[in-house]
Amino acid sequence: MVCPVGFIDSQLARFRAELYDFLRIPSISTDGDHAGDVRAAAEWLADRVREAGLTAEVIETPGHPIVLGEWRGAPDAPTVLIYGHYDVQPPEPLDEWTSPPFEPTERDGRVYARGSADDKGQLYMHVKALEAHLATAGSLPVNVVFLAEGEEEIGSPNLVPFVEANRERLACDLVLISDTEMFAEGLPSLLFSLRGLSYFEITVKGARSDLHSGNYGGSVTNPGNALAAIIASFHDADGRIAVPGFYDDVVEWDAETREQIAALPHDDEEYRHELTVDELTGEAGFTTLERLWIRPTCDVNGLLSGYTGPGAKTVLPNKAMAKVSFRLVPNQDPERVAEMVEAHVRTVTPPGVTVEIRVIHGGRPWKAKLEGPAFDAAREALEEAFGTKPVPMGGGGSIPIVVDFEEQLKAPALLLGFSLPGCNLHAPDEWLPIANFEKGIAALALLYGKLGGGG
Ligand code: BES
Ligand code: MN
Ligand code: MN
Repeated sequence: MVCPVGFIDSQLARFRAELYDFLRIPSISTDGDHAGDVRAAAEWLADRVREAGLTAEVIETPGHPIVLGEWRGAPDAPTVLIYGHYDVQPPEPLDEWTSPPFEPTERDGRVYARGSADDKGQLYMHVKALEAHLATAGSLPVNVVFLAEGEEEIGSPNLVPFVEANRERLACDLVLISDTEMFAEGLPSLLFSLRGLSYFEITVKGARSDLHSGNYGGSVTNPGNALAAIIASFHDADGRIAVPGFYDDVVEWDAETREQIAALPHDDEEYRHELTVDELTGEAGFTTLERLWIRPTCDVNGLLSGYTGPGAKTVLPNKAMAKVSFRLVPNQDPERVAEMVEAHVRTVTPPGVTVEIRVIHGGRPWKAKLEGPAFDAAREALEEAFGTKPVPMGGGGSIPIVVDFEEQLKAPALLLGFSLPGCNLHAPDEWLPIANFEKGIAALALLYGKLGGGG
């Protein structure tokens, strides 16, 4: 009899071709014009889940649909909830892509396409690992709830209520997610944290209209200047966030985790060079990896004000807008942070303009111990598939639903990512290593076996 890993090896070309069909669907959740494509991706995915041998439903929400697959043929085995997202970020700026974002293209052992790494490629690995068991053994080693949403990139507004309303149906012993990174090529990893998020839109308004900057410059507050002052007030000279109370709930990380972080094969000089910047900067007193994983941050994501066309136009803009996000760490709470940031912005806004601050979305930070049989099984499966012992790592990004899963379903989350730090998530030329797609499917198939009590 063929084993799941043998089956996977024999089917790799077909698996890749299927993934590329998935990647061709521009399921951009934030863009209403693509709602039909998001739905098409959900239907496509549900069809593949059914073909693999699970049941699958496309469940309507007030937004984009949820795909729910189930297989419950192993009454004595644990139940694993596999979560991922089939929506993607917008591909812009289009002219910075080497090949079109929705035409998956292989170059140098990588597949380039929007969603290849985040998260269609990783989500599809689970579908294929499930298929490998069902095709070879006719059954799965564990019971499976397969849950994929089309709104992760817009903050999962409809998944949170869905999980709350369906606690029994989603009941599980473990939540398994592949939507993060490995530390480096060939070095599989287990995630011990995710940062949270508080995301704001800040709008500053001034005079009744734009004004001639010679006729009026000096007599009124320029909203562009005011917004720059607000943004500048978010940091102090040491790179710490200067919003009063911001660090109140930040937990200092344990020495053991900090030692594990320090032991990882990271080189600041290589990192700096790869990013083509002349210096790495950040909060004083922390290493680059600590700054990325265990410390909170504040960043402008977008800025809009005044004249930005060719040449010069002498004008005082009458409004300015910024999108600003704070990445949070345990035990910061996005709602408390939002209150602090709003109060701070009102205090530092210069006189003569009005400021409006709107919370766009948020998510709680997450932290895991990496202890227990499921994590041991994951370590073994990763080592067998990749030939290297996995390392623990943190995640700088956010997957807000993880904490809701743990709270609502009372099950731990295990985050096994297969993209790489340079994979250009949310950016032009997003890619996934083809080797990781293939080894990752094998690792997941091995993991399901171990979770079900097999070797
Ligand atoms: N998959 C990412 C999150 C991620 C990437 C975590 C790499 C750790 C390492 C996810 O799709 C994402 O982009 N999340 C958003 C948050 C969401 C509320 C828009 C993020 O982190 O910006
Ligand atoms: Mn993702
Ligand atoms: Mn993303």
